[in-house]
Amino acid sequence: MTNASKGHCATITPSDTAQRNLAKELRRAKRNFDVAPRSGKDLAQMTRTSACLPRIREADERDVPTIIGLAHRIWSAHYPSIIGQAQIDYMLSRMYAPDTILKEMTKTGIRYDIAEVDGHAVGYSAYGPGPAPGEMKLHKLYVLPEHQGLGLGKALMRQAAAWGSANALPTIILAVNKRNERAVAAYRRCGFSIRESVVVDIGGGFVMDDYIMTSPISNLCRTASMV
Ligand SMILES: CC(C)(COP(=O)(O)OP(=O)(O)OC[C@H]1O[C@@H](n2cnc3c(N)ncnc32)[C@H](O)[C@@H]1OP(=O)(O)O)[C@@H](O)C(=O)NCCC(=O)NCCS
Repeated sequence: MTNASKGHCATITPSDTAQRNLAKELRRAKRNFDVAPRSGKDLAQMTRTSACLPRIREADERDVPTIIGLAHRIWSAHYPSIIGQAQIDYMLSRMYAPDTILKEMTKTGIRYDIAEVDGHAVGYSAYGPGPAPGEMKLHKLYVLPEHQGLGLGKALMRQAAAWGSANALPTIILAVNKRNERAVAAYRRCGFSIRESVVVDIGGGFVMDDYIMTSPISNLCRTASMV
């Protein structure tokens, strides 16, 4: 398998000037999104990979097909062993129907963000006001498998937290399947803890067997490499 097919950016060797410009852009990306390198060595590596600059942007109606495409790819890779294919099909057909997402964006105050690398969408989040006063809810957070573990989830989360802060919603909550151990671990690492355990009937003979996790947004993503 080539690097490109694994989702890595091609390594190039830019001129000194280009390398300096890239380093500057990476420092700016780190300030804005915290998806920048975690060490000087990483920075040196990333300055040789100009195509890898990440960007988080708000999605709009034109992005609905992209979000649906990402969801199908990520869910098909991640959830079969957790909820099974029948429940995946059932949930995707409801939660990711174009009209459903469009309505969320335009009528219910849910905001979608997209993470892009080299101009390609590789992940997304959705969030909005939560069920209780002072709370926001992170409804969705998904990154393509080949881009996971690189800081994009955390960058999307921080963007959501910034929205919560701007809207005077100091607490963030989310629901995560109890068997989704990697996501639970990542959320813990970002500062979340489990508040309760719920089982929600979603029809079609299926349930969502979830933890509700929560964090003060002021604590979010303050661990390890965060600045
Ligand atoms: C969960 C998910 C969104 C996290 O995004 P990501 O880009 O992979 O995560 P990041 O690289 O930003 O990592 C965020 C933090 O979690 C930690 N982390 C990530 N994966 C982890 C794992 N499997 N175990 C423990 N910690 C983990 C990282 O180390 C990082 O913390 P640090 O910077 O303090 O070291 C992503 O892995 C994903 O899309 N998974 C599949 C779909 C899914 O389960 N979505 C959540 C639905 S509720």
